[in-house]
Amino acid sequence: MKTLLLATVLATIGQLALTACPSSSGGSGAPWREAGDACYQAVLIPSKWTLARDTCEKLHPGAHLATVTSDMETWHMFNSFRDDVDLTVCRSFFHWIGVTDIGHDDVFKLIDGGDYENWSSFVEPLHKPNQEDCGAISPHTGSWYGDPCANEHCFVCEVAAI
Ligand SMILES: *[C@@H]1O[C@H](CO)[C@@H](O)[C@H](O)[C@H]1NC(C)=O
Repeated sequence: MKTLLLATVLATIGQLALTACPSSSGGSGAPWREAGDACYQAVLIPSKWTLARDTCEKLHPGAHLATVTSDMETWHMFNSFRDDVDLTVCRSFFHWIGVTDIGHDDVFKLIDGGDYENWSSFVEPLHKPNQEDCGAISPHTGSWYGDPCANEHCFVCEVAAI
């Protein structure tokens, strides 16, 4: 039992030591931060949702607007970037993540096809055509809010740790 525990601890340490985030910050000022098995970066440039999505994809090969599949991953994600949030630059509290109903008729999906969700309450997002078609996360609670995609928010990008 003790041996097994020790082996598990060593394996965990080994994993931590072996993975890293890309070093480039992509010019936004905030570095990639490792959390779980992914790296997250708060991009502190208020942008429309589609521009945020495109900007993430240009930051690093395989990078995309952040997506999550579980409470644990959401927890990792928002803990990783919340110290980087700068409300003098971002002007709003919400940060775009990779969730939208664009292209699927008012059904919200993560851009990687996942269906995890953590809306702040049953009234989020507002289900009216072309009203709140994109999703943003609160860096304080980890809960999600719908917002018009044309609004400009800072955003969170993700790339796999390497
Ligand atoms: C999900 O949202 C709730 C509020 O609706 C929040 O209290 C909770 O911390 C969020 N969960 C995660 C994993 O971020």
